[in-house]
Amino acid sequence: MQRFLIKDTAKHIGEKVRVCGWVNVRRVHGKILFIDLRDISGVLQVVFVPSNKEAYDLAQALRPEWVVEITGQIVKRPENMVNPKIETGQVELSVESLKVLSESETLPLSIEGDGYDIGEETRMKYRYLDLRRERLKNNLVVRHKVIKFVRDFLDKEGFAEIETPILTKSTPEGARDYIVPSRQDPGKFYALPQSPQQYKQLLMVAGLEKYFQVAKCLRDEDPRGDRQPEFTQLDMEMSFVEQEDVMELIERLLILLVQSLFPNKKIQEIPFPRINYKDAMAEYKTDRPDIRKDKNDKDLLAFCWVVDFPFFEKNDEGGWTFTHNPFSAAKPEFEKDLMAKKNIENILTTQYDIVLNGFEIGGGSIRNHRPEALEKVFEIMGYKKEVIREKFGHMLDAFKYGAPPHGGIAWGLDRVLTLLLNEPNIREVIAFPKTGDGRDFMMQAPSEVDKKQLKELHIKIEKK
Ligand code: AMO
Repeated sequence: MQRFLIKDTAKHIGEKVRVCGWVNVRRVHGKILFIDLRDISGVLQVVFVPSNKEAYDLAQALRPEWVVEITGQIVKRPENMVNPKIETGQVELSVESLKVLSESETLPLSIEGDGYDIGEETRMKYRYLDLRRERLKNNLVVRHKVIKFVRDFLDKEGFAEIETPILTKSTPEGARDYIVPSRQDPGKFYALPQSPQQYKQLLMVAGLEKYFQVAKCLRDEDPRGDRQPEFTQLDMEMSFVEQEDVMELIERLLILLVQSLFPNKKIQEIPFPRINYKDAMAEYKTDRPDIRKDKNDKDLLAFCWVVDFPFFEKNDEGGWTFTHNPFSAAKPEFEKDLMAKKNIENILTTQYDIVLNGFEIGGGSIRNHRPEALEKVFEIMGYKKEVIREKFGHMLDAFKYGAPPHGGIAWGLDRVLTLLLNEPNIREVIAFPKTGDGRDFMMQAPSEVDKKQLKELHIKIEKK
């Protein structure tokens, strides 16, 4: 007999159905025994009566979170028992047979309610139980819907989703790299990508023209509320575009996404206001201004763009470093200065950041597609010719063979979802996040590895 999802049972009054799921609660009313049965789609009241002795006796043993399969008849509830709060509130299941598929020990944490008050260590250690809670299951389903919406949208716009490597080379994107030792090349290391930045640009050289990817990015930074060492970007790159084209596409996508999937949300201002970096710093003292007119309204979305960032800033050693992305182009009116390495402190970049309610949810730029210009950026940063060759030779070479002008952007998907779902931090929208100190309590990672593995990699651990 085919399995029914619980949410569908209410439409089948009088029919025999088979349902499977978890025992939510068990209640006894006089001689009658009730359980609330839960599956991915909802909750159903199930009734055991003494006249069906076999099922009734077995049901005495049921405890919360046992997994069961039940067949029976869907019947209308008596008028005074109707529960308008749930989809199946008009009906209940009158049991014919019960089968226990799996028993459960008492859970180490409560899965009722929102769970915010439960210690992080417990929630993360038993994340597979934590995720049974309604709120988190819903967050993961919404995450899926958002990704699907973006995929469908970009597909219609002519984008192709292309995967790029996870084992790659250390690149300067501002954060520390995670590195992976090579077995075949002792003493050498791969780096995990901080973003697909260079690969997506190389895909433009390859002539793909419109690329996107739901991309895992890895940065060895201290986690905080809006930051994880491993996070997901909606990463895009396009050829033959200017700043306006990228911004227009992203704005259109974000507006449609909110209107379609989050109709309760109100976007404060369309088109999204644009603020230049200087004004943002003068007026809001930050380059990610929270421009909400009413900060108490949880459904208000105040998007804005921040543009006209300085390209370079002084580093701790007194030299120059990039503020955002070394692959960005200077604004056209500063191209001359870049090539002459003059007026460096005033050169503006084509970088555009998108900010939502005070959080930077994305950023991108038009890139330097001419090798001479890219080289100048590295020279300004004080890199010697050999270093430029060694670190960026592949990009400079690629750009010699007919590189189209190109630009792109990446959103922090986790951050966008956190804001759209009114969650207090990004761990609430990620299935298996790391804790505040970068650990996975469930898998116990990071962990030690076998001596044999280390030997193969020619690695010796120096104990402190
Ligand atoms: P950037 O480094 O600004 O740009 O990253 C883009 C967006 O990713 C999100 N983000 C993070 N989210 C969670 N945890 C983190 N540790 C984290 N770091 C960044 C932010 C940010 O706006 N390659 C460029 C993009 C481009 O130019 O196309 C890049 O990675 O929301």
